[in-house]
Amino acid sequence: MKPKFGYPVTTDDYREKARARLPGFLFDYLDGGAADEQTLRANETGWVNINLRQRVLVNVENVDTTTTLVGQTCSMPVVLAPLGLAGMMARRGEVQAVRAANAVGIPFTLSTVGICAVEEVQAAATEAAWFQLYMLRDRPRVAALLDKAWAAGCRTLVFTVDLPLPGMRHRDFRNGLSSKGPRTRLLKIQQLLSRPGWLWNVAVRGGPLSFGNLSDALPDAGNLDAFKEWIDAQFDPTVTWADLEWIRKHWQGRLLLKGILDVEDARQAVRVGADGIVVSNHGGRQLDGVASGAGKLPDIVAAIGSQTEVLVDGGVRSGTDVFRALALGARGVMIGRPWAFALAGGGEAGLTRLLLSWQQELRLAMTLTGVTRITDIGADQLDRPRTTEFRKAGE
Ligand SMILES: Cc1cc2nc3c(=O)[nH]c(=O)nc-3n(C[C@H](O)[C@H](O)[C@H](O)COP(=O)(O)O)c2cc1C
Repeated sequence: MKPKFGYPVTTDDYREKARARLPGFLFDYLDGGAADEQTLRANETGWVNINLRQRVLVNVENVDTTTTLVGQTCSMPVVLAPLGLAGMMARRGEVQAVRAANAVGIPFTLSTVGICAVEEVQAAATEAAWFQLYMLRDRPRVAALLDKAWAAGCRTLVFTVDLPLPGMRHRDFRNGLSSKGPRTRLLKIQQLLSRPGWLWNVAVRGGPLSFGNLSDALPDAGNLDAFKEWIDAQFDPTVTWADLEWIRKHWQGRLLLKGILDVEDARQAVRVGADGIVVSNHGGRQLDGVASGAGKLPDIVAAIGSQTEVLVDGGVRSGTDVFRALALGARGVMIGRPWAFALAGGGEAGLTRLLLSWQQELRLAMTLTGVTRITDIGADQLDRPRTTEFRKAGE
């Protein structure tokens, strides 16, 4: 049983803080997954079930968690994943998050459907943010968005490919997120009034709460319901591999494909020249019933790890999980909910503390498995190495 008062340390501690601070529908939007949330749960257990191989009496005086991800030096192999509406978790949330990420020395990724615009985020950043793209039906708008991100200084594009349409998130339906009836309106108002701190700090003092990158798409930028309707209709299910050529034409920087879960798709990503991929099931928010990132990673690394950088996300909840992902062959990880929980529960300072604590956990895992450099982490550090051979990305 956790003490009710006390300093939050783990992702779970911050999750409870976030639950106490956010209106119920917003916490559920962040915490929940698709359908029965089986994949969401599998994501976490996928890492927990991996045992590490403790080694002793090795000189581990100089353990270094530094690495590079698509050419960028990072203090540890962790990237803050793109989260739509993250700016509602704390006042001007994406600005606070990019500051925390920069303070710790890791990349922050801004979602197409973030609250803060790319210019606002970049103005606060000391290291260029990565920009995440959802393909919209309105291609001139997408081209303009890419130009805007480039002009603001972004050089790494994360193109998300697993959202031809939004998943069925039952918690959101139960909370009436997509409904405008009087009953759900009342429910929302009730939940909002039960969190006056959030209302004052985030909604009143932190406004406007609109999709900053798309604020010129609709005249009423503050009407989030109307915006959500517009965006849901804009997701483009006709996108195919052929559209990668269009993206390449409009984006001169580094390109990562996020949402790859199949070896064949991973091979195709290499063929189209992606600088990296993110093995991901969108945090269990799209198709409930697909495998976890931990489950799919080894085969994908074995197939393409020597040709492009392989990142993974979904269910990574500690620095030890980061180590596990690297031991399974990932070059780095993205984290979603953990950073938003920390931001909602403790603001910029809370997120910075959580990230530093993860770095310390990663360092400890390296120390007790007897490795001093990130590039030395691999199958040797697993208690029961799998029989299938898998290589480190980049080898
Ligand atoms: C609330 C929420 C919003 C998200 N919004 C986006 C998004 O706008 N773009 C995107 O590519 N992925 C989005 N994702 C997926 C994350 O980028 C990431 O893949 C996932 O959160 C990783 O799993 P984790 O939360 O268990 O770490 C979202 C995830 C959550 C939880």
